[in-house]
Amino acid sequence: MRFIVLKFGGTSVSTLARWKTIAAQAQQRADEGARPVLVCSAVSGVSDLLDSLLPAARRGEHDAVLEQIEAKHRALMATMDLPSDLLDDHFSLLRRLAQGVSLIGEITPRLTARVMSHGELMSTTMGAEWLNGQGLKTAWMDARSFMRSAPMADDSPRRRYLAARIPHDAEPALQKQFADVDATVILTQGFIASSPDEETVLLGRGGSDTSATTIAAKLGAERCEIWTDVPGMFTANPRQIQAARLLKALDYDEAQELASTGAKVLHPAAVNPVRAAKIPMHVRSTPRPDLAGTVVSLDQGDRHASVKAISGRKNLVLIVMESVGMWQSVGFLADVFGCFRARGLSVDLVATSESNVTVSLDTSANLIDEDALQGLLEDLAPLCQPSVIRGCASVSIVGRNIRAVLHELAPVFEVFEEHRIYLVTQAASDLNLTVVIDAAQVDRMVKQLHGLLFSNSQRDETFGPSWAALFEDAPQQITRGARSWWRARKDELIDIAQEHSPAYVYDRATVSARAEEVAGLQNVSQVLYAIKANPHPELMKIARAAGLGFECVSPGEVARVRALFPDLRRDQVLYTPNFAPREDYAAGFDADVMVTLDNLHPLIAWPDLFEGREIFVRIDPGQGRGHHAHVRTGGATSKFGVAADQIDELLGRAAAASCRIVGLHAHAGSGVRTPDNWREVGSVLAELAARLPDVRVLDVGGGLGVPEKPGQTRLDLTAVDQRLGQLRAAFPDKQLWMEPGRYLVAEAGVLLARVTQRKQKGIVRYVGVDAGMHSLIRPALYGAYHQIVNLNRIDDPATETVNIVGPICETGDVLGRDRRMPQSEEGDVLLIGTAGAYGRAMASEYNLRGFPEEILI
Ligand code: LLP
Repeated sequence: MRFIVLKFGGTSVSTLARWKTIAAQAQQRADEGARPVLVCSAVSGVSDLLDSLLPAARRGEHDAVLEQIEAKHRALMATMDLPSDLLDDHFSLLRRLAQGVSLIGEITPRLTARVMSHGELMSTTMGAEWLNGQGLKTAWMDARSFMRSAPMADDSPRRRYLAARIPHDAEPALQKQFADVDATVILTQGFIASSPDEETVLLGRGGSDTSATTIAAKLGAERCEIWTDVPGMFTANPRQIQAARLLKALDYDEAQELASTGAKVLHPAAVNPVRAAKIPMHVRSTPRPDLAGTVVSLDQGDRHASVKAISGRKNLVLIVMESVGMWQSVGFLADVFGCFRARGLSVDLVATSESNVTVSLDTSANLIDEDALQGLLEDLAPLCQPSVIRGCASVSIVGRNIRAVLHELAPVFEVFEEHRIYLVTQAASDLNLTVVIDAAQVDRMVKQLHGLLFSNSQRDETFGPSWAALFEDAPQQITRGARSWWRARKDELIDIAQEHSPAYVYDRATVSARAEEVAGLQNVSQVLYAIKANPHPELMKIARAAGLGFECVSPGEVARVRALFPDLRRDQVLYTPNFAPREDYAAGFDADVMVTLDNLHPLIAWPDLFEGREIFVRIDPGQGRGHHAHVRTGGATSKFGVAADQIDELLGRAAAASCRIVGLHAHAGSGVRTPDNWREVGSVLAELAARLPDVRVLDVGGGLGVPEKPGQTRLDLTAVDQRLGQLRAAFPDKQLWMEPGRYLVAEAGVLLARVTQRKQKGIVRYVGVDAGMHSLIRPALYGAYHQIVNLNRIDDPATETVNIVGPICETGDVLGRDRRMPQSEEGDVLLIGTAGAYGRAMASEYNLRGFPEEILI
């Protein structure tokens, strides 16, 4: 006999509609030739009521609780058309037990277990009656007759009655008994079991999952299905993050780790029985039986390192133990942990150093009262200096072989720089990396991390659709904080696209406003527009009108600046070539612009070029920052700048060539949104400048980021300015310069493209447009996110999830993945946002498709 165990949780047994789903699923399994074994929880809310019944009884207030319990069941019985006296025995027994407690005033774990068991006994009694009434022959089994607990080392009454352990070895006798039952379906209870001496015991809250997997293991079932109200496990809590992706396949370890780090879909203890018996577990949704959910199994093929989910857990308490005596002392940790055991506190995360041990206590697993904590601190005091930090939360990155992907997590660590970190642990099993921070930060951080790690992941055998795609038809997402000037001008843009698509359109007013904004930085003496972001002459004129100078990186850029603005002084045009040939340096000096040296080689090999000149030197700030590895320009692996330890040689070579170093320059990277960056870069420069007597300018580079993804916040320029003010106050004889590119033009520019066709392959839908990676390479090159909006349907709800692709012969020719949009039709105009910087400037004629036009409005 093939068994399939199906577990239905509280919300799945609380309405007639859900019971219809249960019946349909059971029938389907039976039709497949298997015997369905249904394991059910109590009706939603009933366990909580039962839990409060005895304490209420002790106060003589049990009537109200009993009424609520009865009312819940009676309402459901009425909709299910069941005899109204079906549960009367249970109601009256509960009443008598409660009365007993109100008289005696004593509550024991044994009694609590008996009372609580009625929740499951009642829900399954109703279920069996109804299923039989539907013509589905159902045998009701009392789980206590075959779920026997094993004695435990810690055999306190609380453990024995309320947190029992049930062995999960295969039981041929039980298999035979279940096979011989004369019925189509077997229906039994989760959560309850019996002790060897036949008393009712419980598996602990959330124990129904464990009941189901244990029964599956005992029966050697073909699979175990956990039916709940969400359709599987997700890359984050989908109620918090709508972009969370369904995880289609996990292995047992990953599922266990996810369950333990905070995902509430599955109880952590539930994994073990099916793992041991190698039984696949499917997590599915009663409201959406059409979805396949998450399959947890041994064999899911994907053994590669990968990050699967982010989870957050609140309510952590940290115990910090400082000790100098711990170094090389034997038994210190044993003594310390002994104190936790003595107080019945279970330790979760641990980090140790030679003088500090920090552990976290999970308040959901520990009933932490102040007395227990105070007692613990007293016990610990002779061993170390203990202290408590409350209100913490953990954020875990969960996945397989996290160690191997640490380098890919670099941008993730940038998120951490804004947060105070109390503890970091990397699980020895290599399944999670956990950081403990202030609870107030956790939601934001989980969101940020999720955006970083999953926004670009494709759909494949692991990652399914997002929660939003499954459930929400929300209007198109507009990037928060980005000022979308184009909303008000959509009709004009649609007209432009009809004639010129694909085309970049720039809004003059936005460029002008941004240029004024940076020109207004109080502590920056000169702002240079880095024209590599967008060298359109009209945009350069707008920058110049705001008083900006220019930063160039090639003879071509220098020539363009000189042609447009012949009157600029030498110190208004900075020229920063990198690995450029000798002629390029010569061209800079000929054009009479300020040349920046970013390597010693030119000075050593061509000293004559530099003779008598004033130059800037580009320094490697040591640490890079930015939105992607390709645009971080600090550290030994980046090709830019002179390392700080080469300063002495620089001094000697400059003196030998009799040239003067009048400015130091550094650029940490591009797309930086932490206001501290420029002060930090400036401090590195200021420190070096102390050894270079002629330096009067510290150029702290460009890199000012703009919000691109939904949920990203805007860089606070006032904060940048204020921090630079601190630097200026410390070095009053130096001028500070900056050279932003992106910040001026990114949001001012959009790429318009027309829909050429639609396509569906499997579950993936494509919308084709006449722009592609040749028009905008940032998504393909950096995985950059550009908002995409259908201008013709701007206010319509999103109804489909699509990949927006271009006509180029490469699989990477994707402008946006998994976007929720209204259905786009041929001829519609799509707007690709935040495309003014490094858009047209990096476009190519690849496939001989030609460049997009550029239009200013
Ligand atoms: N100064 C120097 C020395 C630079 O190398 C750069 C940019 C800037 C200033 C201007 O950085 P911005 O303010 O625009 O971030 N193609 C990439 C960006 C490359 C940036 C290269 N250097 C992208 O599309 O994100």
